Formats: sequence, C-alpha cells, structure tokens
Amino acid sequence: MGETIIPLADLRYAAPVPRVPAQPVAPNGLLADRLGRPLRDLRISVTDRCNFRCSYCMPKEVFDRDYKFLPQSSLLSFEEITRSARLFVAHGVKKLRLTGGEPLLRKHLEVLVGQLAALRTPEGEALDITLTTNGSVLERKAEALRDAGLKRITVSLDALDDAIFRRMNDVDFPVADVLAGIAAAVRVGLAPIKVNMVVKRGTNDHEIVPLARHLRERFGPAVVLRFIEYMDVGATNGWRMDEVLPSAQVRERLHAAFPLEPLDPSAPGETAERWRYRDGGGEVGFISSVTQAFCRDCNRARLSTEGKLFLCLFASGGHDLRALLRGGFSDAQIAGAIGLVWADREDRYSELRGAMEADAGSGGRRVEMHYIGG
Ligand code: GTP
Ligand code: 5AD
Ligand code: SF4
Ligand code: SF4
Repeated sequence: MGETIIPLADLRYAAPVPRVPAQPVAPNGLLADRLGRPLRDLRISVTDRCNFRCSYCMPKEVFDRDYKFLPQSSLLSFEEITRSARLFVAHGVKKLRLTGGEPLLRKHLEVLVGQLAALRTPEGEALDITLTTNGSVLERKAEALRDAGLKRITVSLDALDDAIFRRMNDVDFPVADVLAGIAAAVRVGLAPIKVNMVVKRGTNDHEIVPLARHLRERFGPAVVLRFIEYMDVGATNGWRMDEVLPSAQVRERLHAAFPLEPLDPSAPGETAERWRYRDGGGEVGFISSVTQAFCRDCNRARLSTEGKLFLCLFASGGHDLRALLRGGFSDAQIAGAIGLVWADREDRYSELRGAMEADAGSGGRRVEMHYIGG
C-alpha cells in the first residue's frame, strides 16, 4: 500500500517523556496516586483501526478514507507491550484488557495473548487477561484466543434488530455474525461473556428489553449484559446530555420485563453496578459514568497503540512511555518513571463533569476512544 509516514500522527496528543528517577525505588505494589488510588488495571490498545464506524466513536465523516491512522512503525511491538505490562504488574496491576480500535484486527494477536498469559504477579498468580471486541471476526478467532490463554472476553453489541445494528455500526455489518461470535466464545469456554450495550436515547433505547430477552433465552447466565451510559468521550461524537438515558431508567424498563435484584460489588473500583434476574436467568450490569461517576476508586491506566500512557479516559494528553522503551532505559528506570507518573495523578473527570462547563477541564482536545480503547 506504500503507507506515507506522517510524523504529525505522533503529535496528535501532547505527551511529554516521563521523568526517570535518578535512583529508582523497586516497585512494591504499594503505589498510590494523589487521591490514594492504587494501580490495578492496565488497558492496552493494540490498534487505532476499526472495521466499524459507530457514530459515537468513529463517525464516518471524520474517520474517512483520508484519515491518517498510525503508521506501523509507531505501534508498540508485542515485545514492547509485554515488557510494559510486566513493569505495570510489578506496580500492582492484576488485570489486563486488550482494546483498540478493534483489537482482533491486529495480526497474530493470539501471540501477544500468549506472552501476556505467561506473566505472573509478584505473588506468583496469573493475571486476569481479557479483551474488548466488536465481535465481527470472533467466530473465527475465539478458539485460538482461548488456546493462547485468554480467560474471558467482552463483546460490544448495541442492538438486536438487524437494521438498527447495521445503522449503528454504519458499515452495514449484520448482527447475526456478532451473535455467532458470542456463541463461539461460549462454546470454547470463555464464559461468562460480557456484552456491552451503549444506550443512546432515541437511537437504540427500545432495544434494551429485546436484546436482554434474546441473550437470556439463547445463552442464559453464560452472558452478562451491561448497559453503558453514552459518554462525552473524545471530541468528534457531538455528545448531548439529552441523548443519555440514565441507568436508573434503563433498570426500570428492564425490571418491568424481567424482575431484578441487586448484587454486592465483586471488586473495588469496578465500573458496573451488578444486578441479577430474580428468576435465575443470570446477571446484568449498569455502567453509569455520567449520572454516577466512579472516579473515586479508579485504578485504571491506559496504554495507547503508540505507547503513550493515559491516566484518564478523558485526558487531553499522555506520557510518552515508548520514548523510554526505545531509549535504552533499564526496566528499573522505566518502572521508576511509571511510578512517578502515577504518584502525581489526580484525574477524576467524570466526577468533575457535572461541576464544570463542557470542555473546560480538559484544557484542549480530548483523546479519542478508538485510539485509547474503552
Ligand atoms: P470487567 O472487568 O469485565 O468488568 O470490565 P470493565 O467494566 O472494567 O471494562 P469494560 O472495558 O468492559 O468497560 C465497559 C465500559 O465502561 C467502557 O466501554 C466505558 O464505556 C466504561 N468505562 C470503562 N472504564 C472506564 C473509566 O475508567 N472511566 C469511565 N468514565 N468509563 C469507563
Ligand atoms: N460512550 C460510552 N461507551 C463508549 N464506547 C465507545 N464510545 C463510547 C461512548 N461515547 C464503548 C463501546 C465499546 C467500547 C470499546 O467502548 O461500547 O464497548
Ligand atoms: Fe464501534 Fe468499538 Fe469500532 Fe469504536 S472501536 S467504532 S465503538 S466497534
Ligand atoms: Fe477513571 Fe477518568 Fe474514568 Fe474517572 S473519568 S473513572 S478518573 S478514567
């Protein structure tokens, strides 16, 4: 294809090179940020490309044929990703999530999964390794991913109705193929599979009950459906508050069709409030980052496709870890630099959103979700 290398692509978000401490202290798992939050979850974006064009994430008008995605040379290699993950694990990370764009578009992803599955926590435990996919090629890849060591998977699915789904992915992709991907994941033993539905009032809110009914009837407790409040991530989706359907209302609608009861949280800092069907049909979740921010316990860091470390989904800039990975620094030095960056963190965008004018807090262009992952 003869891809043109455009250095500007690397400069789209400000990302200073992190400071390397003169005498790095060995990571001890006790690292905390300015608000006392530990580092437990690393989300790694493996590609900024996607074969869908969901309007809330990669609207066609912006991400068109002329859009310059990152050149191959910018991407972190599998070895660089695994090395970074190992350093984060030394600081206390226990959960790794591969995201994109669409992560299954990255060639030989199962090789990376294999490398990550071999990592161990300082206590000698395996990591919780998962992946967020749009499901479009999952039917073909589920088995290889499982064989490589993937333990679970999350599939994004916003509608059961084929016409609505095709309109929302905006590339005319049929819903049956995604459902076949979910079925394949169940078959190879990746259950319980999480299905994430972003609810947009007026676009897919009438799909809440039909999608829940279908997944219950077809998969039972092997699938956990989670409803996500539509968020103002990035700067291209034209977000409006009146398109957000608060989780409380989603839950009321679902409860009217299938009575629900609450469950206790399973881990500190988790995104979803957990409920279950009273009839034993399984679990559902509600992710309410707009109406009920969950920054207080946010233990998530994000590593972009080109190796920039972001401390918040709504950050306008990151920290250029790749410069250190490619700069001849030792593991101890890079781990030390990661420690300093995290210790200085005070991000809590969703909590502040309500209290500030739209856009005022981020001081510039916000990172896009397709670039940093969910
Ligand atoms: P599990 O461990 O499987 O429960 O995953 P998770 O809920 O931590 O992660 P997932 O990627 O499935 O998150 C689901 C959705 O929650 C994402 O698509 C985002 O919309 C939202 N979300 C995840 N993390 C954050 C976060 O740190 N901040 C905000 N505001 N939203 C988030
Ligand atoms: N609001 C909420 N969730 C979003 N996602 C992407 N854009 C948004 C948004 N604006 C979620 C998708 C997908 C994951 C990759 O990120 O549901 O599950
Ligand atoms: Fe849609 Fe996910 Fe692709 Fe974004 S990354 S366009 S949400 S499928
Ligand atoms: Fe964490 Fe930022 Fe999301 Fe708050 S808005 S939960 S700080 S990523």
